[in-house]
Amino acid sequence: MNQKLQFPADFAWGAATAAAQIEGGADEGGKGRSIWDEFASRPGAIADGSTPAVTCDHYHRYAEDFDIMKSLGIRNYRFSVSWPRIVPSGRLSDGGANSAGLDFYEKLVDAMLERGIEPYLTLYHWDLPQALQEAGGWKNRETVGHFEDYVKIVVERLGDRVRNWMTHNEPWVVSFVGHLYGDHAPGVKDLRTALQTAHHILLSHGRAVRIIRASGGADARVGIVHNLEWVEPASPSEEDQAAAGRHDGAFNRWFLDPVFKGTYPADMVEWYGDRGPKVEKGDMETIAERIDFLGINYYTRRIIAHDPAGDFIHVKRIAYPFVPHAEFEEWEINPEGLYRILMRVHRDYRPARMYVTENGTPLQDAVGADGRVEDPVRIEYLRRHTAAVYQAISEGAPVGGYFVWSIIDNFEWGFGFTKRFGIVHVDFNTQKRTVKESGRWYAAAIRDNGFTVS
Ligand code: FCB
Repeated sequence: MNQKLQFPADFAWGAATAAAQIEGGADEGGKGRSIWDEFASRPGAIADGSTPAVTCDHYHRYAEDFDIMKSLGIRNYRFSVSWPRIVPSGRLSDGGANSAGLDFYEKLVDAMLERGIEPYLTLYHWDLPQALQEAGGWKNRETVGHFEDYVKIVVERLGDRVRNWMTHNEPWVVSFVGHLYGDHAPGVKDLRTALQTAHHILLSHGRAVRIIRASGGADARVGIVHNLEWVEPASPSEEDQAAAGRHDGAFNRWFLDPVFKGTYPADMVEWYGDRGPKVEKGDMETIAERIDFLGINYYTRRIIAHDPAGDFIHVKRIAYPFVPHAEFEEWEINPEGLYRILMRVHRDYRPARMYVTENGTPLQDAVGADGRVEDPVRIEYLRRHTAAVYQAISEGAPVGGYFVWSIIDNFEWGFGFTKRFGIVHVDFNTQKRTVKESGRWYAAAIRDNGFTVS
């Protein structure tokens, strides 16, 4: 039987990107070097040896990109501001804010608004000024103060036209992929550093919330974006259940509890023991500053088994061979996990509002002889994940919108240009954009504010 999934009238359909992944113009307009410019210059750091120097050249082509968005009916756009474009060395005392960088984002936001596109601005999507990294990066508590200086400048300049603010994107990834596994900039491998980094990022989130409340527009709304996974034990054994609990603790609760409850989860504090972060008086209250919404990036479900030899929390990730996986083979495609995580966050943390701030899948898309990009797997992926959002809303979860990752193919961090996530194809030799069939499907879903499932 066919069923029409009709989304709430004010549901925000959107698309997401990040500065380092799409802008290029790495040395233009007075921009300073970021840790990703630096990391990508290390031999072997990026799968295809590419860098963020040019990527989609959005720095020069943003008007065309926003025209495409408008033609698809996308009226909500999540993007990030590059800190080293605003404060090239990260330290304001080194010469103040870079006015060319501020002008760029002002033009960018105006170009969105002219086309009826609502900006959702992320303040930190991973491109720390390299000069701050050389002084210890996020492990150094002083970075928090430098972040506040940067946030104040951006809020002052754009606060009259940006209403939706996100402080950080995926603190778990920054802390653990960047500072424990070493696969992301700055390429550090140390658990203590990872945990201290996480603490300083969360602290800087709370401080930024206060700045936005004090200096943003009257209708400013602020949140943080966490990447969350739905976690299940590989078996009903007590050991596997405890292992799944630890994975959930390290990955989800370590980042949710401080923001919503002002504490780190007790089981994980005990597990980490003296490897845990140095927390100063008042930090937890700052981190728990009230937010208006939680952004959730969802990509996969995780099946976890106990493994004393495995990882820092003694777990092993299990990949079932009989379920579909994305091109990252460790990412199982599991839309039910999105529904479950939304319901769980709603039940356990009661955020006033949630947005799915990223969701999508990479495919080896190519422009066919007929000029079309056929990506039926992505269409099915988007249909099933947005249907999961619909189900969560029907059962009472306050989900205000969904942002597909991504509007255009782009620089996928350590994977360079080998992973195409866009609903619009980019030829990186010619910079030609081609709307994929998934882009057309998404445009129709937005137009109808829903779609029919059978
Ligand atoms: C997320 C990142 C985003 C993008 C997607 C695929 O972890 O926030 O920038 O790389 O993964």
